[in-house]
Amino acid sequence: VLYFRVVKLSLNTGSSRYDVALGSGLLATAGSLISTQLKQRRCAIVTDKNTEPLFAKQLHQSLTTSGIEPILLTIPAGEQSKTLAQAGSLCDQMLAAKLDRESLVIGMGGGVVGDLSGFVAAIFQRGIPHVQIPTTLLAMVDSSIGGKTGVNTSAGKNLIGAVHHPALVIDDIDVLRSLPEREFRQGFAEIIKHGIIADAQMFEELKGTSASKLSADPEKNKALIELIRHNIEIKASIVKKDELDRTGDRALLNFGHTVGHGIERAGDYKKFLHGEAISLGMIAAAEVSIKRVGLSRIHRDAIVDVLHRFGLPTQLPKDFPRDEILGALKFDKKFQRGQIRFVVTPKIGSARLSGEVTLDDIRDAVDKL
Ligand SMILES: NC(=O)c1ccc[n+]([C@@H]2O[C@H](COP(=O)([O-])OP(=O)(O)OC[C@H]3O[C@@H](n4cnc5c(N)ncnc54)[C@H](O)[C@@H]3O)[C@@H](O)[C@H]2O)c1
Ligand SMILES: [Zn+2]
Repeated sequence: VLYFRVVKLSLNTGSSRYDVALGSGLLATAGSLISTQLKQRRCAIVTDKNTEPLFAKQLHQSLTTSGIEPILLTIPAGEQSKTLAQAGSLCDQMLAAKLDRESLVIGMGGGVVGDLSGFVAAIFQRGIPHVQIPTTLLAMVDSSIGGKTGVNTSAGKNLIGAVHHPALVIDDIDVLRSLPEREFRQGFAEIIKHGIIADAQMFEELKGTSASKLSADPEKNKALIELIRHNIEIKASIVKKDELDRTGDRALLNFGHTVGHGIERAGDYKKFLHGEAISLGMIAAAEVSIKRVGLSRIHRDAIVDVLHRFGLPTQLPKDFPRDEILGALKFDKKFQRGQIRFVVTPKIGSARLSGEVTLDDIRDAVDKL
């Protein structure tokens, strides 16, 4: 078992420090991990219809063995569960079960469960501890770290939320075994993103590998554990610099996301998974970077190669409604004045915000996809 401490995160209202337990076989020890670190003895497990039958029994057992009394709250799987109504319903069920200020919330699932359960933990009785047990690669390397929690509204994604850091994160790589191949692969989009914006050496190493499924051989899984650990550290170090998203440092994590979000939206959130859309968005951002900050063609090609190697899309289908990708941006007044913050990379391993990128730059880049 690999056990390590994430770097200290400092909030302006105090400071937040939490452990990430990362390794194999951790679900069975979740109860003791939680009970040795936290004093709460009653909790709600929030999970979804897919993860519940896979892992809830084991988690439940591990908790009760350690003297923690859980109630199980299962939500429908998918983004459509990330709503205020769902958060309200979870709070109501927790109140009905007499959970109180001395209880905690465990989110066991992908980013949807993590964001929703974290938001519930942030608002229930004005805030109770949140334990994240991410079960997707994306949630392990991205959404479970950084404290952003929230829900969607009809006006857009993640518009209501709170910064509420987890009290503990438990990453058991064994749970990834049941993750559908496509879901596994999309997690690598954020890993590759971390390489592009912050770590040229990791990017270099990714060039020689590919998305390998979890192996029966524990030795081979060490590489995956190492990769997850390294990416948690990258994300945490960026978040630490700019916890509340004010200075622009944290915004660098949005590399590829301007166009990526446009692609997700244009595909009605059905054609592409988030990581797949971000893969295309990063290629567009690389193209813009060539024009605006002198990214070399060689680096741009290397980005495309790595994404391709990990089975991520590098081209838009011919019949894709390209015009709609820029739809939302076009109406953005800030953008028309050239003030939008677009993340560019002058060379692999570094990124910065540019206020000079125009809608035409982006249109040209999308046309090349
Ligand atoms: N808070 C943040 O900083 C942050 C960062 C990135 C993304 N997000 C959010 O994360 C969400 C996406 O997360 P996601 O990609 O994990 O999606 P998800 O939670 O919808 O999970 C993807 C699918 O895999 C299933 N699943 C999860 N774990 C499984 C397992 N081990 N075996 C089999 N099936 C499993 C889920 O039921 C779901 O159907 C979005 O809502 C996004 O906004 C948040
Ligand atoms: Zn993302």
